[in-house]
Amino acid sequence: MNTSILSISNLKTYFHTSKGMVKAVDGASYRVNKGEFVALIGESGSGKSVSVLSALGLIDTSPGIIGGEIIFDGNNLLDGLEKYCTVKSNGSAVSVSKDVAGWKKRHRSNLAGIRGKRIGMIFQDAVSSLNPLYTVADHIGESAGMKKGKINQKQKYDVAVEWLRKVKIASPEEVARAYPFQLSGGMAQRVMIATALAAEPQLLIADEPTTQLDATVQLEILKLLKSLQEEMHLSVLFITHDISIGYNFSDTISVMYAGRVIETGTAKAIFERDNNHPYTDGLLHAALKITTQADDKKFIKGSPPDSVHHPSGCKFHPRCELKKELPDGGDRCEREEPYKIQVSDTHYIRCWKYEPDN
Ligand SMILES: Nc1ncnc2c1ncn2[C@@H]1O[C@H](COP(=O)(O)OP(=O)(O)OP(=O)(O)O)[C@@H](O)[C@H]1O
Ligand SMILES: [Mg+2]
Repeated sequence: MNTSILSISNLKTYFHTSKGMVKAVDGASYRVNKGEFVALIGESGSGKSVSVLSALGLIDTSPGIIGGEIIFDGNNLLDGLEKYCTVKSNGSAVSVSKDVAGWKKRHRSNLAGIRGKRIGMIFQDAVSSLNPLYTVADHIGESAGMKKGKINQKQKYDVAVEWLRKVKIASPEEVARAYPFQLSGGMAQRVMIATALAAEPQLLIADEPTTQLDATVQLEILKLLKSLQEEMHLSVLFITHDISIGYNFSDTISVMYAGRVIETGTAKAIFERDNNHPYTDGLLHAALKITTQADDKKFIKGSPPDSVHHPSGCKFHPRCELKKELPDGGDRCEREEPYKIQVSDTHYIRCWKYEPDN
């Protein structure tokens, strides 16, 4: 039995805006098992970052997290929240009791003991995520100190050199003394990885860490992450637009669309292309650049729904070419949101096409 390090269920994170209630994450569920590399895939705006920022306690806009479970290493970080939040069934109105302030304070202090210590993070823009006033050794040493306790300057330098070697930076003795502005994008990302891992976290969350890097450097960083993950038996949640990264590096893939996960399976099952959500199929189709005529209709047309006005039923139905092939011509897709339909032990798809009777 696989035990999860992070398990998110039915998470809802909403934001009040002048345009209405943004349902950034709207019932998302996914998990990362211990020692597993999970890729979270989806188009821009699908709620990938907001879901991890929710898990890290980094949401400041109100109302923020209004429901669901975020279980980290066996503890539900959202325990007790449901007492303070009420959502109208159509999601248009959320009332959050003023008494939630006490809960939020406890939540913040709880997360302060986890973020950067038990959960490491790396983000897209490594250079600006590093403090310009601190050297590389300060960053890595500070992080190592979270695990080892207070350490002096010499120990910080030594541990930094050791980590720079592990992330395969040439001349680690020199780079340890460098400031962030002296690093290239690829080097800065390696320093970020070293900083995040020096605290020896149980889980590493990487939010599009290679998007700004050129293709060769991107591949090198991914290979490095993968080898460190295997060596340290680390759990990794890797966020990306690029489903082919999922194939090459991950054990499990979860695909997000309009605030929720519409398919989860092993990378192998997803890339076999026997059973896929039509949205995942479109992403695979685009990534694999398949051009046969029969597959033409699988290209995803249109754009994702705006996050205030989600479509009724299956949120993908306005863009779905396959719904017409269902016995009811896709009627139900427009009315009813599909549940998580199990197509194998480890593979779930939210699409009526996979209901056993169809
Ligand atoms: N603080 C906020 N206030 C209002 N809306 C927000 C806020 N943060 C995010 N959103 C909206 O929530 C939705 C989900 O955003 P999110 O950043 O999670 O998307 P994403 O899947 O990470 O996209 P990308 O691939 O571009 O990084 C988007 O519509 C975004 O505009
Ligand atoms: Mg994002």
